[in-house]
Amino acid sequence: MSILLVEDDESIAIVITAALEAEGFAVTRCGTIGERDRLLASQRYDALVSDVMLPDGDGIATLEAVRTQHPAMPVIILSAQNTLDTAVRASGTGAFEYFPKPFDIDELARTVRQAVGTGAAATAEAEDDTASQALPLVGRSAPMQAVYRMITRVLRNDLTVLVLGESGTGKELVAEAIHQLGHRSTGPFVAVNTAAIPAELIESELFGHEKGAFTGAVARHIGKFEQAEGGTLFLDEIGDMPMQAQTRLLRALQSGSIRRVGGREEVRIDTRIVAATNRDLEPMIAAGQFREDLYYRINVVPIHLPSLRERPDDIDALARHFLQLAASEGLPRHRLSDAAAALLARQPWRGNVRELKNFIFRLALLAREEQIDPASIQPLLEQIRTPEAEGIADLDAAVAGWLGENRPLPGAIYDSALAAFERPLFAAVLKETGGNQLRAAQLLGINRNTLRKRLGELTIDPEGFAHRS
Ligand SMILES: Nc1ncnc2c1ncn2[C@@H]1O[C@H](COP(=O)(O)OP(=O)(O)OP(=O)(O)O)[C@@H](O)[C@H]1O
Ligand SMILES: [Mg+2]
Repeated sequence: MSILLVEDDESIAIVITAALEAEGFAVTRCGTIGERDRLLASQRYDALVSDVMLPDGDGIATLEAVRTQHPAMPVIILSAQNTLDTAVRASGTGAFEYFPKPFDIDELARTVRQAVGTGAAATAEAEDDTASQALPLVGRSAPMQAVYRMITRVLRNDLTVLVLGESGTGKELVAEAIHQLGHRSTGPFVAVNTAAIPAELIESELFGHEKGAFTGAVARHIGKFEQAEGGTLFLDEIGDMPMQAQTRLLRALQSGSIRRVGGREEVRIDTRIVAATNRDLEPMIAAGQFREDLYYRINVVPIHLPSLRERPDDIDALARHFLQLAASEGLPRHRLSDAAAALLARQPWRGNVRELKNFIFRLALLAREEQIDPASIQPLLEQIRTPEAEGIADLDAAVAGWLGENRPLPGAIYDSALAAFERPLFAAVLKETGGNQLRAAQLLGINRNTLRKRLGELTIDPEGFAHRS
């Protein structure tokens, strides 16, 4: 199913495209009425999704001709002109639906699906296949839309981008997206993890060396800067780069050229630089561990990736995305129930998207039923949620940390804290008794019915702790 999207605001277009592609549609995008008409003349589309105010005209006023030529094609109108007038004009054209901006992106995707009249069952397989090819970044929460907006601003230029964020938030994925969607996508994407290279080899890795430059340099070596010619050089973990290498890197960035180790020739750099770090660079500068001038050089456009805790709305979509990814990599295919997705959305995910991804892959491997319910997730969650696993040494610290991170509503702290405490406690004891509730109740010294009731309230499934043979 193919959709023509006419939208001149790139950040909105990217989000809509990702949403529609996740629904299994092929999306062609353009930003003007002229392009719209050219595309419509050369190809058949199953639906048209169009903005109203476009650089070369009005998306509604020019619809008449489109509708005469393609009477069966549903049209969906989006508009920031939230006026009654636009709505009336849109419905006058027989448009399938009118969406005032800002609109709910999921609702738009649903409407498009209805408009093209596809049975969900018939396209389920196709959806699975195309979803993995869609925009690599999943998630439509407000914090991520801010990230997408920043990404769109750097696609047509070579400004240096610094991607910041906790470990596992998707910094490398953002660097790749900037490359793939940007104007250097036909060139190479070269990633260097500056923390993983021994200090004495960094210069040679980045800048290359001439034959005989040092013992062991038996042949000329082309460094990452030159390998990334015409494309993007991704300098990962830049906060962990040794001082001396920082100095050399700064010189290269300032002069726009490099010199191979042991070489004389200055080689022009023609590459877009994207750097990333999970470290907080400012205190490192204050402590003399990171060069301030290098910081200003690379921090031209900072893109800050939010932690997964700051965007729980994305967890559902991410979890389903990873389940599909797992299936496409040969693991058993599963579906996530809404209750299970809601349970996942309440977890802290300190390891961010990476932790969620690993969790979902483990789940795909271990879950017995096709449909994944809270009961099949719970035992796996217990494994990652015990205080030892989080490296919290004592209860005082655990309580303080918990209060800081998951602060419940005023008036609900006591009950929430007890629930948070009971969960790992019950899990640990049930693990010991292999899921036997009677013995667990005896060990805990509480009534068996009390235990059963609390397990139900906390949606802990004792079956999950049964020893498997
Ligand atoms: N928005 C997202 N949509 C889909 N997958 C994501 C998203 N964000 C992260 N991932 C996946 O999560 C994993 C971790 O992401 P990535 O390696 O980009 O993190 P990072 O921020 O570079 O972490 P680190 O600081 O530890 O290097 C990867 O497998 C990546 O594909
Ligand atoms: Mg990384």
